[in-house]
Formats: sequence, structure tokens, C-alpha cells
Amino acid sequence: MTQTENRPSVSDTPLVPIETIVSLCKRRGFVYPNSEIYGGVAGIYDFGPLGVELRNNIRRYWWWSMVQTNDNIVGIEGAIITNRKVWEASGHVENFVDRLVDCKNCKRRFRLDHLPAENVEQNKCPVCGGELTEPRTFNLLMETYLGVVEGERMQTYLRGEACQNIYLDYDNVLKSSRMQVPFGICQIGKAFRNEVTPGNFLFRQREFEQWDLQFFVHSSEMQQWFDYWKERRFEWYQGIINHKDRLRFRAHGSDELAHYAKQAFDIEYRTVLGWQEWEGIHWRQDWDLSRHSQYSGHDLSYTNPVTGEKFIPWIVETSGGVDRTFLFLLLDAYEEEPDPAGKEPRTVLRLHPMLAPVKVAVLPLQKNKEELLNTAKNIHKRLQRLMVSQYDDVANIGRRYRRQDEIGTPYCVTVDFQTLDDQTVTVRERDGMTQVRVAINELPAYLLERVTWK
Ligand code: GAP
Repeated sequence: MTQTENRPSVSDTPLVPIETIVSLCKRRGFVYPNSEIYGGVAGIYDFGPLGVELRNNIRRYWWWSMVQTNDNIVGIEGAIITNRKVWEASGHVENFVDRLVDCKNCKRRFRLDHLPAENVEQNKCPVCGGELTEPRTFNLLMETYLGVVEGERMQTYLRGEACQNIYLDYDNVLKSSRMQVPFGICQIGKAFRNEVTPGNFLFRQREFEQWDLQFFVHSSEMQQWFDYWKERRFEWYQGIINHKDRLRFRAHGSDELAHYAKQAFDIEYRTVLGWQEWEGIHWRQDWDLSRHSQYSGHDLSYTNPVTGEKFIPWIVETSGGVDRTFLFLLLDAYEEEPDPAGKEPRTVLRLHPMLAPVKVAVLPLQKNKEELLNTAKNIHKRLQRLMVSQYDDVANIGRRYRRQDEIGTPYCVTVDFQTLDDQTVTVRERDGMTQVRVAINELPAYLLERVTWK
């Protein structure tokens, strides 16, 4: 991805409080609390007009860089509901649990693995110092039922992680797409978890969206592919943020590793709440395909067409979240910039132009001149077919620029009196606030060059 021109240094801007982003999201139509008029549901959100554009851009960019531009990767879209045996084979029915404690005094609830060690040892609430209850265990899978006749309905689960579809469709993909190991399957899809402590806005939700690459390899090449994807994924995140110093790897400790995993890393981003997981790079070995072979009775091994060797492929997983990307991008992009003229600070979302929900705003300089309005509307109509464009003629031009800066629109096109003489417009860039004159007939190419993937 290319960066916006004239991007100022952003490494020293302060960490943004989550509440600032929550408020912006509600005010400008990025994110709303779900079922708000009924009091809401903890850990579930809806996405508004700008939110859905940003989400689509985030998803499209991931898909473009993982599926479209890699010859050895294909994509699928599996169903949210599967046979319940899937979740027995995956180990979720037995092991997908959180251990909870409650404070007997202030009644707050905590996940045992989130408590500081000293509070666990002393059985003490980290907020009020009260005594904690004995830990209780909760399964995070969300149950559902298929069928209409009471007593004959099949109990199953909404998927607790999206990647399971990939193992289920792995054999079909092999047979229908002529892929050969090493190769990968990608998917973006919803996952559901009955999180006992949802919170921090989009960070920990009960309904959220994951993206997964499951990359199938011969065991002898596992380390090489693990290292490859670990680096590629880190670079991917580096490419979409401004504050590169807020990104790091964290290696999982031996107490966190699954029994089959030689190693695992989280890509973490630093927010006001500290370092937080953005994506996991997991060494899944042959666990998933072996378990599904065993539980289904369907042999999921692969036969090398050249050597004839038959084996269960090992898997490198890279698993991240659309919602965490959405949240971290907003935290990364948000800035309140002092105004040299001493007026209100300028709020600007320095989102990468290719991810920004609105790419261009077309603004007639004045509202009282019919010719300016018509020219601006015509330009907007032309641009709208190529990218998300907004037309705005309400309030003075300074206020309209501010409105667009606050939602991250990288370019504003102003139609002024000179436009009527020479068919050029002013293009104002969000970050540096620089302005250039561009001929109307060159405008689509000028903007497309700056706002599309390459
Ligand atoms: N298949 C592996 C897996 O599901 P995970 O670490 O549980 O691993 C992967 O989840 C990613 O999904 C996380 O790195 C995070 O981005 C996202 N994620 C997990 N739980 C989430 C939640 N409750 N709310 C929002 N995103 C979540």
C-alpha cells in the first residue's frame, strides 16, 4: 500500500481513550449498541452507515492480500451452524471454558485468568479487596436447536471459532480446486462466544467476526512456513497503522501453549489498556485434521501426487478479528490537532485512504450559486460510480472540511468560481491539508490512483 502524501509524524501522539472512540462511533454512525431501545445486550453491536463501509474495506483488503494475490491460497465461506459433532471433535464441548470468580462484597465478576497472581493467591478482589467466591466453570459455546418438533430437535452450537469450516471443507477444496500441499484456505466469518466478561467496546464481544488462514504443509516444512506467515502477517498490520511502535509480537509461554503446539505468537497492539491481542499465529500441527478424521470416520490424509507419500498435513493458522482491526484502526487513526488560529482543535481520523469509509467529498464553495451546485452534483455523480463519495453543501467550507476530517475522508473536492472558468477543482488532502488544482476530467484517475489497493 502506498501512504498518503504529506503525512505528518504521528509517533508522539497520545493514546486515545476507548470512550472517545465509542462516542465518535455513535455520533458519526460507525457503531451503535445493539437493541439499544430495549436496553441493549452486553457485548453485541451494530454497525452504522460509515461502520459498514469501513468493515467492508477492512475485509476486502484482507481478502485481496491473502486470497487474491496468492496463487496457493483459496477462499471459502462456511455456514455458522454445523453438525454438533464438529464441536466434540474440536474439543470445544469439553474444553472451551472460562473460570470465573465473583466478589462477595462488591459483586463484580472476574475471569480467573485475568486476575493478577497476587489476587488469586490471596483470594482478594482487585477493586475493593473483598473476598472472592470459589472459581466456577462456564462453557463459552452458544447453544442452538434445529428442527421444529419439541423433543426431536437437534441441539448444536453457533460456531465458537470460524476456522472449523476450513477443516470440514478441506477435502472438498482439495478435490475441486486442484490445490496441492503446501496450500492455504481462507475464510472471514462470524463467531459466537458466551464471553463471561465482554467489554472494552468491540474488543471482547459475544458476536464477532474472525479471519483465518489455515495453511496446510508437510511436517518437514512446518517451521519454515510458520516463520513465513508470522512475518507476513506482522508486515500486513504494520502497513495499515500509523503508530508502528505500538505493534509487537508476544510469544506464548509454555503454560499457554496447546499440547500439540511447539510455539504460538500473538501480534499485539498497544492501547490505553496496555498491550492487547490482535491476531494469533498458531502451530496446530496435525491436531485438527486428525481429530476430524477420527470423529467422522472420513480419512482426511493427503497423498503427494509425485512421491505417493500419504500423510495428515500440519497446519499454520493465522487468526485475527475484523472487529479488533476496526477498533485498533480507529484508536490508531484518531487525533485532535491544535488549531494554529487558536480555534477549536481539529479532530482527524488518519485512516489509510484505502480503508477510509468515504473516499471523497464534493463541496460547492457557496450554496447561493446554482451553477456551482450543479457542477458539484455532476462531479459527485460521476465519482460515486467509482468510489464512496459524499456531496455536502451545508454550512461554510471550513466546517464541511472538519466534518470530513472527523470521519477520515482523505480528499475533499471544492468547486469554486474558477471551476466555472477553467473546469478545474481544488483537491484538499486530509492529513497535510495541502491543496492542488486538478482538471475535472482528470479527477477520477487522480483519486483512484490514491484510494485503491495496489
Ligand atoms: N481459531 C483460533 C482462534 O479462534 P482466538 O485467539 O480465540 O483463536 C482469534 O481468536 C482472533 O479472534 C483474536 O486474535 C481476536 O482478534 C478475535 N477475537 C477472539 N475473541 C474475540 C471476541 N470475544 N471479540 C472480538 N474479537 C475476538
